[in-house]
Amino acid sequence: MRRAPVNIRDPPGEALLTEFSRRSYSAIPLIGKPLMQTFDNWLRALEERHLADLTFPEVSRALRALSSAYVERRGRLKAGAALSGAGKRAAFALFYGPLHYLLVREISATIGFRPAQLTTLIDLGCGTGAAGAAWAQTFPKLPAIVGLDLNSWALSEASRTYRAFGLAARTRLGDIATTGWPTSPAALLAAFTLNELSDAARETVLQRLVERGVRGDAVLVVEPVAGFVAPWWNRWREVFEAGGGRAADWRFPLELPAIVAKLDRAAGLDHRALTGRSLWFG
Ligand SMILES: C[S@@+](CC[C@H](N)C(=O)[O-])C[C@H]1O[C@@H](n2cnc3c(N)ncnc32)[C@H](O)[C@@H]1O
Repeated sequence: MRRAPVNIRDPPGEALLTEFSRRSYSAIPLIGKPLMQTFDNWLRALEERHLADLTFPEVSRALRALSSAYVERRGRLKAGAALSGAGKRAAFALFYGPLHYLLVREISATIGFRPAQLTTLIDLGCGTGAAGAAWAQTFPKLPAIVGLDLNSWALSEASRTYRAFGLAARTRLGDIATTGWPTSPAALLAAFTLNELSDAARETVLQRLVERGVRGDAVLVVEPVAGFVAPWWNRWREVFEAGGGRAADWRFPLELPAIVAKLDRAAGLDHRALTGRSLWFG
């Protein structure tokens, strides 16, 4: 049973840290069993596909390299190093994709977005489409989804993910800071993407997101909690809040799906709790 969130800090203008009791990844009161089955099928298909040509030790080694690229060698991310090579791609799809799915699902269910009139979700820097699929599942009616990314491998994975979750989807290759976004009312998601942009590109994207939020669109930004990943966070939190948006830090202790937990252990990581921070309108 989901426990009511405990607000550790909630004065206006400060992040809200929310704690939940530990439970299995499949215990989702909001979404229910049929969708969990879809998630499990999606994950099983990822496992079959990505472990067809690579061994488990190869993928876990690649996961170690990928996580060190995210943490220690962030400068190279902009050159697309994170998703170069079959091993790192497999590790991203099989490990970070499901983690991002579960975290975004928890965040959006907890926030309780009800974007009833919004029929389009724009997934900015969609990667393998996991975060977009997760948010879409919490809409009262499944939205059509538009996935934008610089990386064509990511877009082909995203197409598969959206299809697996029954979403009507289009994908577009391009830079989210310089290409136009659909202008009709929409829900806009940027999950784990903004920290990969140059400072100038991020300013542009965040400004556009705030404008959309103030205009009545639903907006959700998700980033890791580590301050060094997003040193720009506090300033943008103030801008969101000044425009009527909200901010929160999250921690969801969750028992992970078997393959994700196995990779976590093998790569020497520790994701017993899903953590993240978000800015949002809606
Ligand atoms: C860490 S992944 C996150 C993917 C997905 N949103 C998720 O939560 O799983 C970051 C993604 O942003 C994409 N990306 C980085 N800079 C971008 C840009 N300027 N325009 C479009 N996509 C970008 C990368 O190619 C990558 O797929």
